[in-house]
Amino acid sequence: MYQLLRSFLFTQDAEWSHDVTIKSLKKMGGTGFDCFYKQNVAAKPVEQFGLTFPNPVGLAAGLDKNGECIDAFAAMGFGFIEVGTVTPRPQAGNDKPRLFRLPPAQAIINRMGFNNKGVDYLVEQVKAAKYDGILGINIGKNKDTPNEEGKNDYLTCLDKVYEHASYVTINISSPNTPGLRNLQYGEALNELLGSIKQRQLELEKQVGKYVPILVKIAPDMSEEEVIQVAETLISNQIDGVIATNTTLARDKVAHLPHGNEAGGLSGMPVRAPSTEVIRMLNQALAGKLPIVGVGGINSAQAAQEKVDAGAKLVQIYTGFIYRGPQLVKEIAEELEI
Ligand SMILES: Cc1cc2nc3c(=O)[nH]c(=O)nc-3n(C[C@H](O)[C@H](O)[C@H](O)COP(=O)(O)O)c2cc1C
Repeated sequence: MYQLLRSFLFTQDAEWSHDVTIKSLKKMGGTGFDCFYKQNVAAKPVEQFGLTFPNPVGLAAGLDKNGECIDAFAAMGFGFIEVGTVTPRPQAGNDKPRLFRLPPAQAIINRMGFNNKGVDYLVEQVKAAKYDGILGINIGKNKDTPNEEGKNDYLTCLDKVYEHASYVTINISSPNTPGLRNLQYGEALNELLGSIKQRQLELEKQVGKYVPILVKIAPDMSEEEVIQVAETLISNQIDGVIATNTTLARDKVAHLPHGNEAGGLSGMPVRAPSTEVIRMLNQALAGKLPIVGVGGINSAQAAQEKVDAGAKLVQIYTGFIYRGPQLVKEIAEELEI
């Protein structure tokens, strides 16, 4: 069924297909129409950062940026759903076209640039959803906020989403917001995470629940950089790390149509680099905080590679676009944690 739908959607513009799908899922989610994609997925509970995940397969950030289809993705059997990236104020993102499929490589290049309807809208969507499973909310900064003030954007979002999230992800690894990735390094990272940790503990008291904070990192890092990031995560008592976001590398796709478009590359070409970052992180973290593995997972075997490298949970985006809801079921059934 999904293959049929996909063969139609792949004849259309990528962003148009995305928008139509999101609008349809928004309407269908939580109604009788969700029989078209609803499926029973094997229970395979995983305990991490104080949360019990019904299965280890999550929806990665960026597909449901505004949290409009939470009930629909829940019906597909995801063990957890991450919405966002959301910013304090709504923003349009980069000029179109900004989303490209590369089918021979089972890949996508995007330079969306955090197009989203703003954190207040997302919170309304989360409140309206019937879903009561594990929901991650991924937060970022507005493009026109200078990096030196970026911290305030993260804190604004954290304040607003805290009580509605099972966990919150700090996205400092999108390649499509100029300068954002600089926040991954050295004192900039330490200062950002220090402020976030402090606010998390204040919010814990105010709201009466502890919401874990995860940090999402890029695959384009040397071993030395990964080690430094790991040390900063540990010293700031961050709860978990998501590895990885999209890559700037083009070596595996430069020869393909759209292969040299600017933006972040995801799917098969990022599978090995992201696994490598997970392996390095796992070594540097020595089990002190859990890793969520994401990047190029398009089969149970690809998910298994992430777990074997040290991930405790996995997320999918591009593989899901190419394979549909069946991929969630396949991984949940076959993955050995
Ligand atoms: C079109 C598109 C938009 C994305 N938007 C976001 C985003 O807003 N925030 C984020 O943290 N990651 C975003 N990502 C990255 C994915 O969550 C994921 O980390 C990355 O694509 C690697 O996984 P994959 O190979 O399974 O797609 C986006 C990816 C794609 C393809």
